[in-house]
Amino acid sequence: MNINELIKKIPKAELHLHIEGSFEPELMFEIAERNKVEIPYKSVEEVRQAYNFHNLQSFLDIYYAGASVLLKEEDFYDMTMAYLKRCQEDHVVHTEIFFDPQTHTDRGVSFEVAFEGIRKALKDGEKNFGITSEIIMCFLRHLSQEEAFKTLEMAKPFKDSIIGVGLDSSEVGHPPEKFKDVFTEATKQGYLTVAHAGEEGPAEYIWQALDLLKIERIDHGVRALEDDKLMDLIIKEQIPLTVCPLSNLKLCVVNDLKDHNLKTMLDKGVCVTINSDDPAYFGGYMNQNFVETAEALNLSGEDIVKLAKNSFEASFMEEGLKESWIKKCDQLL
Ligand code: HPA
Ligand code: ZN
Repeated sequence: MNINELIKKIPKAELHLHIEGSFEPELMFEIAERNKVEIPYKSVEEVRQAYNFHNLQSFLDIYYAGASVLLKEEDFYDMTMAYLKRCQEDHVVHTEIFFDPQTHTDRGVSFEVAFEGIRKALKDGEKNFGITSEIIMCFLRHLSQEEAFKTLEMAKPFKDSIIGVGLDSSEVGHPPEKFKDVFTEATKQGYLTVAHAGEEGPAEYIWQALDLLKIERIDHGVRALEDDKLMDLIIKEQIPLTVCPLSNLKLCVVNDLKDHNLKTMLDKGVCVTINSDDPAYFGGYMNQNFVETAEALNLSGEDIVKLAKNSFEASFMEEGLKESWIKKCDQLL
C-alpha cells in the first residue's frame, strides 16, 4: 500500500480542532445571509484571499470576526455537522473538539445556544456516522482569569457533556501561570485539562502548563525541543503533543514543512499526534495534514501507523475502545 492510501485507510482520532476554525467561507456566507448580518467581503474568493497570516494574532483577528456571524443554535449545528462530514471522508473515527464559549458569550450569544448546537450535531454524528466525540471548553488567554472563572460557572449546567478545559488564543504575554487558580478549580470539579503551550511561546510556558495547570496533553508544544530537560520529561512520562503541521506553516511557526520537527520528535519517542487545528483557515483537514507532512518529512508507513496509534493513545477515550482502534491500526502495517 502506498503512503497516501495508508493515510486514507487508517483510522485516526483528532485531538486538536477548534470547531470555530472549521467554519468554511461558503457556509459563512450562507449563514450571514440567513441571519442578515453584513460581512466585509464580496465573495468566497475574497475571504480566502484574506487568509494570509504572518503570525498567530493576524489569524485570530480574522477567526474571531468570522465567528461573529454565528447567532443561532442551528448555525452552530450546521458548522459542526459540516466538520463531521469531513471527518467521515478522512476516516477520523473519534474527535475531541475545542469550543471557545467566550467568543460567543462576549457578543451576546448565550453559552446554551452555542453549546446545544454543537452538542446536538456531535450526537447526530455518532448516530449517523459512528464518529465518537468529546467537547473541551477553552478559556481565551487574552482575557482575565476572572472571566475564565465566569465561563466555568456558566458551564455548570452542561458539565456532564464537557470532558475538559483548555487554554487558547494569543499565547505570548499570557503565560499559563495567569490561569493557575481556574485550572485548579476546574480539576477539582472533575474536568481534565489541556493547554496550548509552546506554539509561539517559549518552552518555559510548557513547564508552567505541566507544573501549574497539571495538564494531560500539550497542544502544539513544538518548542519543547529547545529544552533537553523538558524533552526528557515529555518522553519519560509520555505526555502527548497535539501537533498541527499546516497550522504551523500558515502561522509562520515554521517557514517550510521540511523544517518541521515532528519527525525528529517522533524518532526520539515523543507521543506526537497530527491534527488540523483550524482547517478552514489553514488549508487542510486531517488527511491533508498527514499527506503534506509525510511528503515533506519523508515519513514511512511505520511512522503513519505510529502517529495514528498515538492519536488513540493520547485521546480521552475509554481504554477498551482505545485498544480496539490501536489493534486496527496495527493490522494495516
Ligand atoms: N492557537 C491559539 N489559539 C487558537 C488557535 C491556535 O492555533 N486556533 C484557534 N485559537
Ligand atoms: Zn489550536
